[in-house]
Amino acid sequence: MIVLGIESSCDETAAAVVGPDGVLSDIVHTQTVHQLYGGVVPELASRAHVQKIGAVTRAALAEAGVERVDAVAATAGPGLIGAVLVGLSYAKALAAGWDVPFLAVNHLEGHMLSPLLEDPAPGYPFLALVVSGGHTTLYKALGLGEYQVLGETVDDAAGEAYDKVARLMGLGYPGGPIVDKLAHDGDPTSVLLPRPMSRSMNMSFSGLKTAVRSHVRKPERASDEDVCASFQAAVVDSLLLRIRRASDDTGIRRVCIAGGVAANSALRAAVANLDGIESFVPHRSRCTDNASMIANVGRLRLMAGQSSGYGSRAQPSWQPGDAPR
Ligand code: KG4
Ligand code: ZN
Repeated sequence: MIVLGIESSCDETAAAVVGPDGVLSDIVHTQTVHQLYGGVVPELASRAHVQKIGAVTRAALAEAGVERVDAVAATAGPGLIGAVLVGLSYAKALAAGWDVPFLAVNHLEGHMLSPLLEDPAPGYPFLALVVSGGHTTLYKALGLGEYQVLGETVDDAAGEAYDKVARLMGLGYPGGPIVDKLAHDGDPTSVLLPRPMSRSMNMSFSGLKTAVRSHVRKPERASDEDVCASFQAAVVDSLLLRIRRASDDTGIRRVCIAGGVAANSALRAAVANLDGIESFVPHRSRCTDNASMIANVGRLRLMAGQSSGYGSRAQPSWQPGDAPR
């Protein structure tokens, strides 16, 4: 079974083809128009998706060396509704034209199961930390479509915290890769920043962002490199604490990380060194938004005998594992 996946939920227009031997093509076009505004502008994102979706899809099919596929999958949510609608409508039209099944895929489920595209892939059950620009959620994955939320952020998502810290320091957008790079040359112990340590499995990053803001306003503030390294260490500590606790509570010794922040070098290194816990981390390029993760979920569901129908709607706030409304 060969499946074309399409992703357009935020500021990446992406198409990919996945078959039995893995990823055959994986094309991602990142919109640059938002850099002027320090964040994604929904209307501009939708328009830019319309301009690129055809070329990106044709490139994915050409690189995979296929003219048609066995099914088409697209992100139906969660995400920016106008942006989601572009990829979703395009994918449904392609599926209808080819007369093949269509699969509406949950973007977060796409991230969560992206480690299954790697070799070795994790077997169920596993813990999955999805850390992206909009979400920071720790799941227990029991099987395809069977997920339990163990904890999530009560305020800013981890990626959002990176973006906000970069903005308040005047470093640019998106903040994650910039802070990650600067942190590499900084001392993580130089600025004392809070680590929320409650018994709850939920996470909070807004206090940390406020602590960074107060620090950088001081005349005797540390260098950008030291602030970034200290902030990054606090984020990683907070995420690692939850993973360890979830592993102890559930007895599950396998963990995956996924989503844009899973591209972070400090988080990747820390997860790889977890004592007694096997870790599965997608290739860096498959952490940030891409369509191979969408094609992957579409293909797994197709092989499980599922499909969605051409009437599927965009789902702006859809939880993985829930039935689409
Ligand atoms: O998964 P993603 O591409 O889009 C969403 O679904 O949100 O995640 C984007 C987020 C942004 O907040 C970006 O700053 C962050 O991932 N990010 C990183 C890194 N690369 C991207 N955060 C920390 N370190 C990185 N290397
Ligand atoms: Zn994402």
